[in-house]
Amino acid sequence: MRTIPFGKPIIGDEEKNAVLEVLNGPILVHGPKAKEFEAAFAAFTHAPHAVSVSSCTAALHLGYFFLGLGPGDEVIVPAQTHTATAHAVELCGAKPVFVDAERMTGNIDLDQLEDALNERTRAISVVHFLGMPVNMEKVMAVAKKHDLFVVEDCALAIGSYFKGVHAGLHGDMGCFSFYPVKHMTTAEGGMILTRHEHVATKITRQKAFGVDRHMGERSVPGVYDVTMLGFNYRINEMEAVLGLEQLKRIPNFLQKRRQNYEILSNSLREIAELEQLQSSHGDYQSSYYCLSVLLNEHLTPKRFEIVNALKQRGVGTSVYYPQAVPHFMGNHIHQGPILLHVA
Ligand SMILES: Cc1ncc(COP(=O)(O)O)c(C=O)c1O
Repeated sequence: MRTIPFGKPIIGDEEKNAVLEVLNGPILVHGPKAKEFEAAFAAFTHAPHAVSVSSCTAALHLGYFFLGLGPGDEVIVPAQTHTATAHAVELCGAKPVFVDAERMTGNIDLDQLEDALNERTRAISVVHFLGMPVNMEKVMAVAKKHDLFVVEDCALAIGSYFKGVHAGLHGDMGCFSFYPVKHMTTAEGGMILTRHEHVATKITRQKAFGVDRHMGERSVPGVYDVTMLGFNYRINEMEAVLGLEQLKRIPNFLQKRRQNYEILSNSLREIAELEQLQSSHGDYQSSYYCLSVLLNEHLTPKRFEIVNALKQRGVGTSVYYPQAVPHFMGNHIHQGPILLHVA
């Protein structure tokens, strides 16, 4: 039987050879390939600064750590996201304040944004849900008015553009994921984009123990100073070369996702019980991460039956995300719109 998996990574000989070459060499971490990967990712997105990290979660955590968030601080977090978007805030001791999603995109409902702010709010985070960009002009206008830092969670947004600018470059930092189901993979891995040199410089130190000199910058091996608190959130050289090879293929990967999306979207359009989430139009260019449908009231109770029926026919699906994040924490039963995602 033909199977259509959900988000299977495409790894070719180029990736395998590149990883082997690293393994045969002397440098496995802290080396030049991570720097090359950053430069290539910056070139692809037209970003002034790119900092590689070990995951998108690490990227988000570094962002709030950079800001010095702690108890008493609040960050706006979209309710409809991966739990990592909220955990990154909580890991700093700050409180995520959840804002509900717009029904037709799954993105944060910007009409509710200002009502969620107060004197404790330090930052706004947005997620380009399934690669459909948020209206960043509106977000930045609110952020400017209230002097807030803006974090874009771009885990699913490689190839997403708002008004022609790549996701992650509208706010103060953009956090990307290279987890295997994403548009491109490094197994685990992530990237931070930022327009601000001081953010890139400090985060580069903070992701590597807070030391003041990288290996290549040390005149005497092993001698460095520690100037700030830091983590070990680096990407390794095997992951970096995987990223370099995958990035060469990203235009093709994006085109394929778009083609698959369009075929699926056109075929499902006739089914009246399914409502498709909005995709690219005008200023909004989606990354076509996956096609997402809302089941109507009649089909909602059959959600898992449908998932199983598709599985039996070899069609992989996934649920993004199993519950709105505050419902995980509150242990409630999710009552909101039911989303079924079909790759
Ligand atoms: C929106 C969003 N943010 C963050 C993450 C976490 O990414 P990572 O696994 O690279 O830490 C994910 C993972 O799927 C995600 O979907």
